[in-house]
Amino acid sequence: MEKVNLDWASIGFNYRKTPQRYVANYRNGKWENGYLTTDETVVLHESAGILQYCQEVFEGLKAYTTQDGHIVAFRPDLNAERMIDSAKRLEMPPYSKEMFLQAVVAVVKANAAWVPPYGTGASLYLRPYMFASGPVIGVKPSDEYQFRVFGTPVGPYFKGGAKPLTLCVSDFDRAAPKGTGNVKAGLNYAMSLYPYVLAHQNGFDENIFLDSATRTYVEETGGANILFVTKDNELVTPKSDSILPSITRRSMLYIAEHYLGLKVTQRPVKLTEVEEFAECGLCGTAAVISPVGKVVDHGKEICFPSGMEKMGPITQKLYDTLTGIQQGLIEAPKGWIKII
Ligand code: PLP
Ligand code: COI
Repeated sequence: MEKVNLDWASIGFNYRKTPQRYVANYRNGKWENGYLTTDETVVLHESAGILQYCQEVFEGLKAYTTQDGHIVAFRPDLNAERMIDSAKRLEMPPYSKEMFLQAVVAVVKANAAWVPPYGTGASLYLRPYMFASGPVIGVKPSDEYQFRVFGTPVGPYFKGGAKPLTLCVSDFDRAAPKGTGNVKAGLNYAMSLYPYVLAHQNGFDENIFLDSATRTYVEETGGANILFVTKDNELVTPKSDSILPSITRRSMLYIAEHYLGLKVTQRPVKLTEVEEFAECGLCGTAAVISPVGKVVDHGKEICFPSGMEKMGPITQKLYDTLTGIQQGLIEAPKGWIKII
């Protein structure tokens, strides 16, 4: 497969149009057959549910070229399952796992020239999403929906690649205890933009959100879950019903336990404990594993011993093992890699 001419190693995390995307419509109580199209625009009714009441859910996953030249996707079945959960929470008709996987495969195959070559560090980021396309004016679910998947080649999510990040503890809340923090809906991101811009203006890379009920426990950032490593090399991740169940985090916990022989614990993590950890990282499809060097809590600086120059040793091992599995260098647990 001839690849398009791009400087793959230097692309950032930006939208870049690829030739084909997938579209399917829900009308008259059922999902119609989907199809590929070159048209990247969406024409909407002025009163579409997405425009009026933000009825939308999405996913994010990546396709890679492995060392032996296959194009693969990482655990796309879990994205399909999570999108079903998200859709149910927003009163949208779930798009089945089979149809989801079929759409992802179709988009990757149709844009194979845009899947970055092995060894470039880049990948094809896939964005499945669905939204209410039918008109509503009273607050109620729409009768019509559209499901789409497009792909865009991406490099590192955070500028500077693997340089440790500085986070600030946000004064804003991301999710309420029985709210929508545990599903991947655009509305969770819309409300995070103000605190995100504020954090950037103040020189921080991202926000740490706390639990909104007590503001004492660490939840997650605007676009990734958080990992901590204790001084005894135990991996600890915050447990909460209002954070997104990250597929990267679930994979990380498995890798830490079964590949690296580490003790892993998921439990509520108090903000006051953070200064006791040896390493910290953010994990997600876009973030992969991005090291955190410093957390600032209202002027109080918490500097992790791993410093601001490089990843901590355990974070590095987790990163190497995860990316090794994704690129076909390390044997994957059964079912993690879908060859396309
Ligand atoms: N948390 C939030 C708020 C996210 O947007 C994401 C990204 O998908 C994650 C966590 C990480 O989830 P995953 O590892 O499934 O990409
Ligand atoms: C992802 O990691 O896929 C995300 O969705 C995070 C962010 C880009 C919204």
